[in-house]
Amino acid sequence: MKGKVEAIIGTQWGDEGKGRVVDAVASRVDVVVRYQGGANAGHTVMAEGETYIFHLLPSGMLYPGKTCVIGNGVVVDPQQLIEEFEGLQEKGKDRARLVVSGNAHVVMPYHKVLDGMEERFRGMGHRIGTTRRGIGPCYMDKVSRRGIRMEDLLEPDILREKLTFNLEYSNLLLTRIYEESPLSFGDIYDKALAWGKKLAPYIGDGPLVIHRALEAGETVLLEGAQGTLLDVDHGTYPFVTSSNAVGGGGCTGSGVGPVWISRMTGVTKAYCTRVGAGPFPTEAKGEAGDRLRERGGEYGATTGRPRRCGWLDLVALKHSVRVNGLTGIALTKLDVLSGEKILPVCVAYSHEGQREENFRGGYSFLENVKPVYHEFPGWDADISLCNTWEALPEEARKYVSFIEEETGVPVVFIGVGAKRDQMIRRGL
Ligand code: IMP
Repeated sequence: MKGKVEAIIGTQWGDEGKGRVVDAVASRVDVVVRYQGGANAGHTVMAEGETYIFHLLPSGMLYPGKTCVIGNGVVVDPQQLIEEFEGLQEKGKDRARLVVSGNAHVVMPYHKVLDGMEERFRGMGHRIGTTRRGIGPCYMDKVSRRGIRMEDLLEPDILREKLTFNLEYSNLLLTRIYEESPLSFGDIYDKALAWGKKLAPYIGDGPLVIHRALEAGETVLLEGAQGTLLDVDHGTYPFVTSSNAVGGGGCTGSGVGPVWISRMTGVTKAYCTRVGAGPFPTEAKGEAGDRLRERGGEYGATTGRPRRCGWLDLVALKHSVRVNGLTGIALTKLDVLSGEKILPVCVAYSHEGQREENFRGGYSFLENVKPVYHEFPGWDADISLCNTWEALPEEARKYVSFIEEETGVPVVFIGVGAKRDQMIRRGL
């Protein structure tokens, strides 16, 4: 294979700034692939004086001559995809070629309704705080082998048969378990046919497109959504999403062989945030958390919910380094920390009086740990115009160097602001 594959993934609970990092490297790659998740993601790219939030489209869409693939591992809400794509078309910014894998699964209207019902059923004690985009129920149908795939939208008879079966089952859940009204077949079928007509020119063979690019010597970038701590296997289960956000998910979710991935970059915010329920050992409640939220604009790009904010957690980050095999860290939003007098960084947990340096995703463990902090002096200077390592205040350099020493992974990119050029490149 002449080409190469690299991946950009989230190391925390999502919202690390992956869209911005993907955008920063998209100009030097040929193909950008989303490989898991769905419209629960919200990847923000600030370019050409405008802010773009991509929920389903890969973050390379603004670059002419690129190919953007929605991989088989993604669950696609066709209505959302059409709106997002048409929004770009109206502005003349649909510059890349779009390919939607025929074997990606379709998020149907009943998945979204069931997502809400499931949360209601769970009640306060077990609620996950999902984005209600139908993600969990769609993946449930996928692994239960009754799901509907994008290619089915192009075949009216197959669609009719599959939808009849799937909707019958979903309506039983709605009526018998959740005591709600059933959804009507006709409405959904008509909508689905219309989606198929609109998206037909883009539905194709994702893995084949990627392989052809690799054979031609091109570079393929796998764009993760959510983050490692939301991964269904390696995250803080059950407070996770329903897919594999780790780099390994990039293989199954796109059809790329594991040994082809030569670079795995983990996007890490200089502090931590989380949306939705679940344990968060370094959460800063009160004033410090509020300051980070306001300065960092920490409100969900998909749901608008205020994000819970806290300090950098190196125990969790080292876990991410291991389960992803990170070759580099892209540190984002370092500028948000300017003005903090003291910067606590979690270097271990205290669990039942014992020092614990290894992360365990299990709820009973994480709910009962206390962070052990190493405190760094902060800096006052505005660093948002720094574009070299040397230009950063010494305190900021020490903060970044400590991350490198503790994780053993080089920091290859530092984000100092949301705009395209507000970054320090160190090898990415
Ligand atoms: P779901 O993916 O909508 O099922 O939500 C499951 C959990 O993942 C909830 O805690 C969500 O808030 C969280 N989540 C899902 N997508 C994102 C994201 O893109 N950023 C941050 N959190 C997310």
